[in-house]
Amino acid sequence: MKKTLVRALKRFAAAGAVVLAAVSLQPPPASAAPAPIVGGTRAAQGEFPWMVRLSMGCGGSLLTPQIVLTAAHCVSGSGNNTSITATAGVVDLQSTSAIKVRSTKVLQAPGYNGSGKDWALIKLAQPINLPTLNIATTTAYNSGTFTVAGWGANREGGSQQRYLLKAQVPFVSDATCKQAYDELIPSEELCAGYTSGGVDTCQGDSGGPMFRRDANGAWIQVGIVSWGYGCARPNYPGVYTEVSTFASAIKSAAATL
Ligand code: ARG
Repeated sequence: MKKTLVRALKRFAAAGAVVLAAVSLQPPPASAAPAPIVGGTRAAQGEFPWMVRLSMGCGGSLLTPQIVLTAAHCVSGSGNNTSITATAGVVDLQSTSAIKVRSTKVLQAPGYNGSGKDWALIKLAQPINLPTLNIATTTAYNSGTFTVAGWGANREGGSQQRYLLKAQVPFVSDATCKQAYDELIPSEELCAGYTSGGVDTCQGDSGGPMFRRDANGAWIQVGIVSWGYGCARPNYPGVYTEVSTFASAIKSAAATL
């Protein structure tokens, strides 16, 4: 992929799923069946209790009861910000039992300029009494099979979902991922997906976590949904922020909020 094209696509994606739906990159084949995330299934209520939907159309995860970890490209900068609503505690965004809390502050990754460093923190007005998701602090879990979840599009140009969807995607090495994306930043980004495509995150999943089980069987976040060329295309894996690279920066930033 040409760097400039992918940059443009990333900016385009950040502009919002509504716009994207109207001017899809490329229509899916008529045979493409609507599938969750792309190629996933519905998550059970309570299965991923730390999943958060953000009102700008992104995902996120509870880093602490009062701080959501999301993508830098989902926010417009740092500072006081009461415009974002976080919805949590439900797989059904329309559920009357949804917990909805406003933001108070946003912290975008220092030095974020549209390539790499795709992480941000959102401070909530009140803590949410739900389990949090630990972040990986070493590279130990940056391989294997990952789980992704979100309310984003179920295909390129598809609509945002009412119910939380999940899927599993295998790790893709930096060397293989570089073949698809010459602009990949291997130290800051982690790739996942099938060579044959078919399963992937998509527009509106951004900011949400990619996670797996650690040695103790606990969920651990290894990635943040960041970008890709289209969704679920063969030979174009999803690209995720490599959480372990930024774990100490994320924790020290969280301590300032
Ligand atoms: N940038 C997209 C968003 O804002 C996420 C794209 C993920 N794409 C992919 N092929 N995995 O929601």
